[in-house]
Amino acid sequence: MTESPETNKTLSIAIVSGKGGVGKTNIALNLGFALHQQGHSLVLLDADLGLANLDVLLGLSPEKNLQDLLAGENPDNIVVPLAPEGFDFLPSASGVAELVELDEDIQGVLMHKLDSLFRRYDFLLLDLGAGINPTVLAFAAMPQERVIVITPEPTSLTDSYALIKVLSTQHNVRNFHIVVNMAETTKEGQTAFNRLAQACERFLNLPVRLLGIIHRDPMVTESVRHQVPLLKFAPTCQAAQDICDIAQKIAERRSKLAELIARSPVLKSIV
Ligand SMILES: Nc1ncnc2c1ncn2[C@@H]1O[C@H](COP(=O)(O)OP(=O)(O)OP(=O)(O)O)[C@@H](O)[C@H]1O
Ligand SMILES: [Mg+2]
Repeated sequence: MTESPETNKTLSIAIVSGKGGVGKTNIALNLGFALHQQGHSLVLLDADLGLANLDVLLGLSPEKNLQDLLAGENPDNIVVPLAPEGFDFLPSASGVAELVELDEDIQGVLMHKLDSLFRRYDFLLLDLGAGINPTVLAFAAMPQERVIVITPEPTSLTDSYALIKVLSTQHNVRNFHIVVNMAETTKEGQTAFNRLAQACERFLNLPVRLLGIIHRDPMVTESVRHQVPLLKFAPTCQAAQDICDIAQKIAERRSKLAELIARSPVLKSIV
């Protein structure tokens, strides 16, 4: 398992969406790939407890998963070091009812166990299920940062707004980064972001940031069909380039946060 030499500087990021099928799993996997290529250590957690499918995208059949972690298994026996991808993967348990409907005590235990694991890495990426069920919300509220994936479709915008609303009003989350996926053009992506940002500003008094726009690209579907991460399958295609740009921004954000923490004795004492 790869260990970060800089402890306590893990940036945890949940990849979430209101509407399903907007590209979260592909984005999580390929952001992981890009961040690793840029020299960072990371673990990718399949936190889609309903329909886990990162293992399918990776062509894996892992023996152990999050459920074993809950049952007391050592995380080192569950994490799968991905070769040749070079980062670690923590599989979920697909379709396990008890996990989908985790009660709050169990959620707390899981979060605690995961926390000690996270700290070994530069980045923790969580691929979540869609929607606003309590388990999704608990996982979405836990990390330091959230990437809300939207598409230009009106239903995606309304569902993302509902997700942001419930996270901000019921879970006190205030920082949201938006990625517009499957944009036909940069302009279409920007317009979709503007619509969501205006609604959040106007009705929730909440500024949201645009992290990036990923273009619709037939290579994404091809890479899924071949069970190979897009960045490996077609590294020069438009969507791969867009994801690399987003990874770069995420890495810069981690450096900035680490600098802030290093300069502030108060922050240093609480992280
Ligand atoms: N930029 C893109 N261009 C073209 N197709 C895309 C793009 N991003 C994702 N897709 C396609 O959209 C489909 C759904 O992607 P993915 O499984 O990553 O979504 P998801 O948000 O994780 O879904 P779920 O909510 O079910 O977990 C995939 O078949 C993928 O090929
Ligand atoms: Mg998914």
